Amino acid sequence: MSESTSSRQLRVAVLGVGMMGSFHTQLLSSRVRGARVSVVSDLAADRAEQLAGQVGARVVLDPFEAIAASDVDAVVIATPGGAHEKQVLACLERGIPVLCEKPLTMEADTAYGIVTAERKLGRRLVQVGFMRRFDPEYAQLRELIASGGLGEPLLVHCAHRNPEVPDSFNSPMAITDSVVHEVDVVRFLLDEEIVAVTVLKPTPTPRAPAGVSDPMLVLFETASGRLADVEVFVRTGVAYEVRTEVVGEQGSAIIGLDTGLVRSTPDGRRGGAITPGFVERFGLAYQHQLEAWVDAALGGTVTGPGAWDGYAALAVCDAGVGAVATGARTLVKMEARP
Ligand SMILES: NC(=O)c1ccc[n+]([C@@H]2O[C@H](COP(=O)([O-])OP(=O)(O)OC[C@H]3O[C@@H](n4cnc5c(N)ncnc54)[C@H](O)[C@@H]3O)[C@@H](O)[C@H]2O)c1
Repeated sequence: MSESTSSRQLRVAVLGVGMMGSFHTQLLSSRVRGARVSVVSDLAADRAEQLAGQVGARVVLDPFEAIAASDVDAVVIATPGGAHEKQVLACLERGIPVLCEKPLTMEADTAYGIVTAERKLGRRLVQVGFMRRFDPEYAQLRELIASGGLGEPLLVHCAHRNPEVPDSFNSPMAITDSVVHEVDVVRFLLDEEIVAVTVLKPTPTPRAPAGVSDPMLVLFETASGRLADVEVFVRTGVAYEVRTEVVGEQGSAIIGLDTGLVRSTPDGRRGGAITPGFVERFGLAYQHQLEAWVDAALGGTVTGPGAWDGYAALAVCDAGVGAVATGARTLVKMEARP
């Protein structure tokens, strides 16, 4: 371990400082103890220079030079998905912890390559940015299930609603960019794999461009025979609403109702505000994700969702994209877990 990590300051390189990377950089620099951003890397030099100036980091334009830099102990990858595979493999080659935004790679087989490469190293270094696992409500729900508070869980109902998305956001993207989080949530809550996916396409909202199915209903079947349904509706025109309800043998529990603050107003209404976007809804989850990652990385490892979870999510999304295209129940193709 380097001198700096032993003195409890993890020096982090952030690769890709667009929306997510700049958010992670700001969190690491202001809210997360035990770490500082030492290197900012982006193909867009202006963006990198500006952010680096704000947080006292230096700029290394080339992502692979950044991974190799002597003042870097761990890496956050927030580049577009197509760049992830090579950057994660470079972190594994150097033997340093990495937090990679989803998707781990672009295809299930390349993600499996990362699972096996990490396995050969014999220690966990790859964490995938499934931040909902660090959201206090999801953590509480999982604890309730694990403690037997609902009896055996039988069904999961999820809703994933966005107020709007660009017209280029098509039906397969609703699976790979939105439903992917529900894939991880269902695996996390039920602690088993998803084995088949069916997608139903009801009458679309007039807001959807021609040929785009929005909303869709996605049905997951798990290895033990449980069912989880996901309503994905990304052009509601309302707000960002992400709900999960688990129905068990002895009751049910629901999260994501935004009922933190319920106000009465002079017009005789009572209600709370719905979060406008994912940063407001999951801000704390992103912070807790980084805190847990930094704590583990200071010890030279990771403890959050790993390469296998990134691989499983891609395998389920592949089946989901197939189900969107064919309308048929589609089996998930997965390798055996090493
Ligand atoms: N966990 C979540 O909730 C969540 C939410 C949004 C996005 N994401 C994921 O985060 C990642 C980044 O998304 P974003 O919305 O911030 O994208 P973005 O387009 O805003 O930012 C990407 C940045 O990477 C830079 N870049 C592109 N190719 C690069 C390369 N090869 N090396 C270094 N820098 C490069 C770009 O110049 C840009 O600044 C994606 O994988 C996306 O799926 C996750």
